[in-house]
Parts: sequence; structure tokens; C-alpha cells
Amino acid sequence: MKIRPRLLIVGLMLAAVSALSIPSTTLPTPTSPISGMKPGTSGLRKKTREWMSPNYLPNFVQSILDVALTSPTASSSPSYSILIAGDGRYYNNEAIQTIVKILAGNNVPNILIPKFGVMSTPSVSSLIRSQSNCVGGIVLTASHNPGGIDDDFGIKYNEARGQPADENFTNQVYEKTKTIREFKIVSGGEEVVDLEAEAGTSVVVGGTRVTIIDPFEVYVDCLMKSFDFGVLKKFVSDPRVSITFDGMHGAGGPFASKILGEILGVEELMRCESKVDFGGIHPDPNLSYAKDLVELMGMKPDGTASKDKSSKFTLGAANDGDGDRNMICGKGIFVTPSDSLAIIADRCRCIPQFKDGLKGVARSMPSSAAVDVVAERNGVECFVTPTGWKFFGNLMDSEEAFNKKSYSPFLCGEESFGTGSDHIREKDGLWAVLAWISILADANEGNDGDLVEVRDVVERHWKKYGRHFYARYDYEACESEAAEELMDGLRGLIGEVGGGGGGEIQFENCEEFEYTDPVDGSFSGKQGMILNFTMKSTGDSARAVFRLSGTGSSGATIRLYLEQYDGKNWDGSAPERLKGLGEEAVRISKLRELTGREKPTVIT
Ligand SMILES: *[C@@H]1O[C@H](CO)[C@@H](O)[C@H](O)[C@H]1NC(C)=O
Ligand SMILES: *[C@@H]1O[C@H](CO)[C@@H](O)[C@H](O)[C@H]1NC(C)=O
Ligand SMILES: *[C@@H]1O[C@H](CO)[C@@H](O)[C@H](O)[C@H]1NC(C)=O
Repeated sequence: MKIRPRLLIVGLMLAAVSALSIPSTTLPTPTSPISGMKPGTSGLRKKTREWMSPNYLPNFVQSILDVALTSPTASSSPSYSILIAGDGRYYNNEAIQTIVKILAGNNVPNILIPKFGVMSTPSVSSLIRSQSNCVGGIVLTASHNPGGIDDDFGIKYNEARGQPADENFTNQVYEKTKTIREFKIVSGGEEVVDLEAEAGTSVVVGGTRVTIIDPFEVYVDCLMKSFDFGVLKKFVSDPRVSITFDGMHGAGGPFASKILGEILGVEELMRCESKVDFGGIHPDPNLSYAKDLVELMGMKPDGTASKDKSSKFTLGAANDGDGDRNMICGKGIFVTPSDSLAIIADRCRCIPQFKDGLKGVARSMPSSAAVDVVAERNGVECFVTPTGWKFFGNLMDSEEAFNKKSYSPFLCGEESFGTGSDHIREKDGLWAVLAWISILADANEGNDGDLVEVRDVVERHWKKYGRHFYARYDYEACESEAAEELMDGLRGLIGEVGGGGGGEIQFENCEEFEYTDPVDGSFSGKQGMILNFTMKSTGDSARAVFRLSGTGSSGATIRLYLEQYDGKNWDGSAPERLKGLGEEAVRISKLRELTGREKPTVIT
């Protein structure tokens, strides 16, 4: 992999030889294992108070280090660094101080910390990638979960390619947490690092140099390589164009202020200051939590156009708490993440990063097949993976890892508001917004009349490729046993063929999704039940996917994803069009009988 070392930052570290030095001694502190520290795919998320309880944070961080410091970068580079950054939620800065002392206690030679301690997840990924001697990043985030002393805090680890740690890594960390006997921490008072110091400032703690860095520089540089900022700026300054963005008081906010605001001149930025409690909301950009934006964009709460309200905005977008997810809206229209992905794929050549076209695209299985249709028609390889960004990351790195074909330039996304590409190894909320501004700029190139709006772009896409009507029903807090029984019942249908009766929606067959990663060979089973249907009158296909999430003591959420393709008639709202399919899926799965639920908790 070719990663250019960032000369500037390295230069700053060398220049700061006269840094303040805090004399301190390492104190190996006895501890004992704390149960329940099993990281999920996005790290360990727990209640903030649990993290603040004695030894909790040190135990987990020491366990991460015990695994991370065996990595090739750490053992081959005597001056390796580790990044520490967070999404700014409650406990962010105190945790950073403690983590610095533990890293110093473990003789990590260099620590990098962004000014104010806050960075979005995509900017973390790009920073790690830009430093040839960076072992990884300790990232303080619980993504879109609420923040506060009574809410959630989390830590995840990103490895040297900027990707979230894989299961092998997190399993090893979990094993360490079960046997830990001591952690190493330096003395040095409560606060060892001034997080408000200017970028470039260093302090030496024990034998460790801690350098405050500019959070924006590397990431802005990375996005400037992906997009033509001249084109974007010109479009933003067009008097017919008006753009708004909702940062949901997350870590992406300051990045949006910098990039959309300062650099591109977008004026209407909302909730872009990072706050420890995200202003008291779930920083999750969806129709209910970004409802101000939905209203501003001239939509009813369900995302369909409002009859009596128009919008002055051409584009409205939102990012989540750590800046990796995105929501895209136009005047009176919400673009589903699956459609957004397909449209970016179709129009990719207007984005300089993709100017020669795409080599690969990928989507998570529950996302709609809209991108598959674009890929097929354009001869681009398309992958369908389980949910989780690591599967995309593996495909992006296929060449390096296995001497295989390269799928770069690569585009990927998930129905859960994640979109991204191989410029980094995380999903990227702002990248998606810039992709949409690029698309609008391109669609309006040379046009002096009425603007081509988001709705026009979306409808032209449907006209060209057909439309995948798409909706998700969530049945929250169902009894775990009933949920398992439902899935088992569906497994019983595997191999059975059709017999959908005389109705319009004909059940064809059923399968369970499983995936063997072509790059690392890992196998993921039980990824969801897919029911295939055919619409009798048109012959178009439809499907329903059932997945469970969060099975445990507080019950399970049953997710039902509905998707119906129509090659000709793309009028109407998705919830309307999918009602019949939803009924059929509920009937076949015996969801009502098993769970007692008449209606979903939420329809997205
Ligand atoms: C898991 O990590 C260990 C230690 O880094 C390594 O030796 C091993 O090959 C890895 N296993 C897999 C399946 O990647
Ligand atoms: C269901 O439909 C998909 C997409 O058309 C297809 O790939 C899959 O093989 C079908 N499943 C079965 C069991 O035929
Ligand atoms: C929006 O996000 C919140 C918080 O994650 C979730 O509880 C809610 O169900 C979501 N609403 C919709 C309409 O998706």
C-alpha cells in the first residue's frame, strides 16, 4: 500500500524538541478482570457511568494495547504513533487524559491528539492512513447513541489502514480483558495534556511525546483529492442554489463548518457545534431525529412531499454523532440511502476520484438492489456483503492482501445511512454530501434556466433503471424466543417452491444469506432470511428480508426490509406501494401469531 507520510506533521513533531516535559514514573497498578468487555463490530459501548467506574477504562485500554503493540508497524518502527480522538461526547476529554497516561505507561513513543480532542470517524481513518508509522487510533465514540453521564460512551480501535479492528483483533482484546492483572499508568496529576493548545504543540509525558494536531488538515486534503472543490464552490455560489446541513451537534459538525461553511461557502449550517450531549438528541440522521431538516425541506414527517409547504433549499443533508452516516434530501424528497448509492454509482464520472469509472461496488445485503442494476448495466463488479463496514474494507484492500485484482475505485453503502469509498476505510458522511453537490453541479452544467433539482435527478434515475420501492419495518423489543421461532419457521421454507396462490404477489422461494469473505476467507452465517416474490401482473421481482438485531435480555428487534422493483411505474410513495408485500411477508412468517404485534414500532 502506498501511503505518503505526512511531512508536515512529522516535521512539527521534530520541530517541537523543546517541548515541556512532565516528569513522571510508571506505576504498574494491580487490577482484576471486569466481565462483559466483549467489543462488537464498532467497539465496546457501555453506559458512561460504567466507563467511569474504577479500573474500567484502564482495563480496556491496556487490553487493546496488549494486542495492538504486537502489530508489525509497532514492532518495526521505533517512533510509531497512536492517535487518540473522540466524538466529543460526555467524558471524552477526561478519558483522553487517562488514555494518554496509560499509553505513556506502556512506552508508546508518540501520541497524536486533535486540538479539542474531537474528530469525526472518517477524519480519524484518513489521518491514520496518512501516517506511515501510525499503528492505529483509539476512538472514543458510541456513534449515534445519545451522550451524557446517564447515556452511552464507547471505545473502538482502528488499525493501521484506518479500518475498524477486525474480529480477530477484538477477540484477542476480549481474551485479554478476561485475564488482566495489572495496567501500566504514569503518575502526573489529572490533566497531563492541554487539549486547547495550538496544533504542533508537544508535551513529553514520561518517555512519550504527545503532539496536538490540526484535526482538519489531512482530511480536507483527502477530500480535495476526491472532489473538484472549484466546481463545488461555483455551484454553491450560484444564486439559484441554497444548501443546508444538520450536524446534530456531533463530531462531524466542526468538519462541516470547515469544509461546507468556510471552504465552500454554504451558509445555512445547523447544529454544527459539537456538544457533550448532542443537544439532548439521538444524533441519528433519520426522518424522526432530523425532523427540523425534514420540515425545512418541505416534507411531511414520513418523508413524502408536503402539499402546502415548499422549500427554498436545493439540498438538505445531515450527519450523525461521529460524522460517518449521512441523510440526503431535496425539495420535498428524501433520497433513500440505497437510491443514493445507485445514483452516485450511475453518475460517478462527475466525481474526479471516479473519473475513469468504477471497478467495484458493494452494498450490504438488506440494502435495495438499486445499485446492482446500475453495476450490471455498466459492467462493474457488484458485491453483496453482510452488514458491517469491514466487509467493504476487505474488498477495497483485496489487491494488497492477496495479489488479486484491484476493485479500486470502489463505491459502497448500506441502507442504514452509510455511504463511502476507498478514499478511507470507514463510511463518510461529508463525502456523501460532497458527492451529491458534485452530482447537482454536473446535472446543472451549462444550464441557465430552472435548476435541475434533487427530485429530477432521482426521477431520471428511476426512469433509466426502474425504481426499487423500499421500506423497513422495525418490531422493537419482541420476545427473543418468539423472534427465534419466527426465523426457524422461515428456515423451514427453504427449498419449498412457490404456491403463492392466485394473488398479485407470488411467493417464489426463500434462502438464508451467508457470506464467505473472498479476501480473508472468514465465514458469516445466519445473516438474514430472504423471501423472493414475483409481481404477477408485471413479472417484476420483490423481496422481503427478515433479520434479528440485539437479541438479549431486553428482547429482540425484528427488522423486515421490503423491496419491490418496478421497471415502468415509479409513481407513488414507498409505504403505500409496499403495503401488500408487507402483509404477505407478515402472513408467511406468522409474525402476528408469534409476537402478538399488529403493527411495526417504526416504519422507515
Ligand atoms: C489473528 O491475529 C494473530 C496475531 O496478530 C495472527 O497471528 C493471526 O494470523 C490472525 N488470524 C487471522 C485469521 O487473521
Ligand atoms: C432470490 O432472488 C435473488 C435475486 O433475484 C436470487 O439471486 C436468489 O437466488 C433467489 N433465491 C432463491 C432461493 O432462488
Ligand atoms: C431514528 O433513529 C432513532 C434513534 O436511533 C430510532 O429510535 C428511530 O426508530 C429512528 N426512526 C426512524 C423513522 O427510522
